[in-house]
Amino acid sequence: MRNFFARRTSWNLTTNRYTEALAAHRRAGREVLDLTASNPTNVGLRYREDELLKSLVHAQALTYTPEAKGLLAAREAVSTYYAAYGSQVSPDNLILTTSTSEAYSFLFRLLCDPGDTVLVPTPSYPLFDFLADLHDVKLEPYELLYDHGWQIDFHSAQAAIERAHGAVSRCRAVLAVHPNNPTGSFAKPLEVEELNRICAANEMAIVADEVFLDYSLAKDLPLTFSSNSTVLTFALSGLSKISGLPQMKIAWIAASGPQPLLSDAMGRLEVIADTYLSMNAPLQWAVPAMLEERHGIQRQLRQRMIGNLALLDAELATQELCRRLEVEGGWYAVLRVPVVGSDEDLAIALLRETGVLVQPGHFYDFASDGYLVISLITPGDEFAEGIRRLLAFIAGHQA
Ligand SMILES: Cc1ncc(COP(=O)(O)O)c(C=O)c1O
Repeated sequence: MRNFFARRTSWNLTTNRYTEALAAHRRAGREVLDLTASNPTNVGLRYREDELLKSLVHAQALTYTPEAKGLLAAREAVSTYYAAYGSQVSPDNLILTTSTSEAYSFLFRLLCDPGDTVLVPTPSYPLFDFLADLHDVKLEPYELLYDHGWQIDFHSAQAAIERAHGAVSRCRAVLAVHPNNPTGSFAKPLEVEELNRICAANEMAIVADEVFLDYSLAKDLPLTFSSNSTVLTFALSGLSKISGLPQMKIAWIAASGPQPLLSDAMGRLEVIADTYLSMNAPLQWAVPAMLEERHGIQRQLRQRMIGNLALLDAELATQELCRRLEVEGGWYAVLRVPVVGSDEDLAIALLRETGVLVQPGHFYDFASDGYLVISLITPGDEFAEGIRRLLAFIAGHQA
């Protein structure tokens, strides 16, 4: 039976203990205070329902006009989104996709031969493993270090490139999550410079996942990789986070970089996109209106994040065992807790004994135990009660 399938699909599909514990908790009808809530459609935001539904009804959607990069009207709206950051992204250098996962998929296909490597940050979002498996790409981690804020460890990036270079395989790209999930850290201008230097020296591209770009907590707008012209760069984003609309399945790739490499990349990407033509017409016509909805949604999310962070800090100030790491943006906070066992055991015990659900740091490949990840977009009351119970639980387990 095992030989029937491609080796790339031989994943361990057994449910992990954390997921099992949560399912059992729910089956027993027990309360869950969900501090992992990250589905924006499920956290009590007020969406302008009429506007959203109206945007889906567009007479032109009744005509089939296949366009590999996506309909021009939609790409122009995305281009306007970047203009607000002072980044001039031509619609010609945009490709619409149904998700950032699909965008990664196109880029892995564009950049990598089987066995080639892509550098990925750690700790970070765990989706990359499956995407890499599906495209026969190897991942080499480079580390983010925490020392009064997160920084890229360029020694580990250089070592990862050296490990990746083999007789026939090569390191093709570095992936940056900007801001990173869950550390909430942005790449700083000097770090971008260093990434550019490394990529230029090794003929690598930058793939920058900017889905949380709009959720910076700083006053000034963050830089966006969409205007990086030093090396071939692909900035990814979409409406899942920008407008809190993951169900609409709208994302994109914004390509930049030196010519003629950029045109060559766009020509090839267009063929990849044309092979699938995965975007549907009604959603593409809705992109301008759905992007417009971001203002109201982001206002609410920002208020929620700032409120929850203030509440978290007030509760943390009452004790000394647990602290939070610096957050520059994104929807998450990382808590540093005393190591009494594995983070997974801690998260499971917390759920069983208090009903509070958090994510163990090891889901994101933190280098050691002692980290829990919580969502800052959890509704305020649930967040407040969850944090109180969490801190009381940790205090109890130290006693
Ligand atoms: C860093 C990062 N990239 C991409 C995604 C998924 O985006 P999409 O819904 O466009 O696939 C997520 C979802 O949480 C994310 O955290």
